[in-house]
Amino acid sequence: MRHFLTGSELTSSELAALLERATELKEAPESSQVLAGKSVALIFERPSTRTRVSFEVGVAELGGHPVVLRSDEMQLSRGESPRDTALVLSRHVDAIAIRTGPDELVEQLAQYATVPVINMLTAGHHPTQALADLQTLNENFGHLNGLTLTYVGDGNNVARSLAILGRTAGVSVRIASPEGYELEPVAGAQLTNDPREAARDADALYADVWVSMNDDPHTAEQRRRALEPYRLDEQLLELAAPHAFALHCLPAHPGEEISEGLLYGERQRIWDQAENRRHAQKALLELLIG
Ligand code: CP
Repeated sequence: MRHFLTGSELTSSELAALLERATELKEAPESSQVLAGKSVALIFERPSTRTRVSFEVGVAELGGHPVVLRSDEMQLSRGESPRDTALVLSRHVDAIAIRTGPDELVEQLAQYATVPVINMLTAGHHPTQALADLQTLNENFGHLNGLTLTYVGDGNNVARSLAILGRTAGVSVRIASPEGYELEPVAGAQLTNDPREAARDADALYADVWVSMNDDPHTAEQRRRALEPYRLDEQLLELAAPHAFALHCLPAHPGEEISEGLLYGERQRIWDQAENRRHAQKALLELLIG
């Protein structure tokens, strides 16, 4: 029984096999019924479009039953402990996936659950997003080892998961953030304050929103001012390799962290990346509970 909380649970060979499997599942989405007769609880304490739909449809495509739970409909919101929630859900479902704020909540669920727990986003990590990001790189380049991926913007949960899983995959991850918004050092990741230096000769450039859902809305204007020089636009992409393309985990704010031209243009794989959430997560579900 294994959990998937940060992505560091996977070895390099497991990750490579998972991404290959994700590509197979993309080519034949109905080919696996590995979750027949099984149920997966999907708990959402925060809004979601991609994660919600890709997990719910993905579980159904694998023959399983997704049980979507909004936390305001659960006793968790009235003080029931993560421990009791984990103990009860484990008696009914074959895995528990959760989107929430505190990483500690997911860790507590994992401590007491007797089924796998999957992190669908916390303040600290977004590892299922990184799986789809790596699948998108893999399907475009045919390999991952030796690629350079540059993330520009806030050193947040998305950046951290890219750093962790990118290293496992052999991808060189650079993260350019303004002073005060840097990611803490993560093994293998190159951190800088200079977005142009980070973009130079990279194979792909990656952006995320400047104000995430776990950020204090009162600091939004301050964050936007600090992050303005870190916009992913045509000028920045010109510094990358000639074949480079833009990635974004979405939702996007065109004109803010990414230019509208890139978001909807030829030199992006953003919409493939959004689709790949489903395929990569199905491969993860097969690994954890298949
Ligand atoms: N990228 C991502 O996690 O999207 P949602 O917030 O819509 O799930």
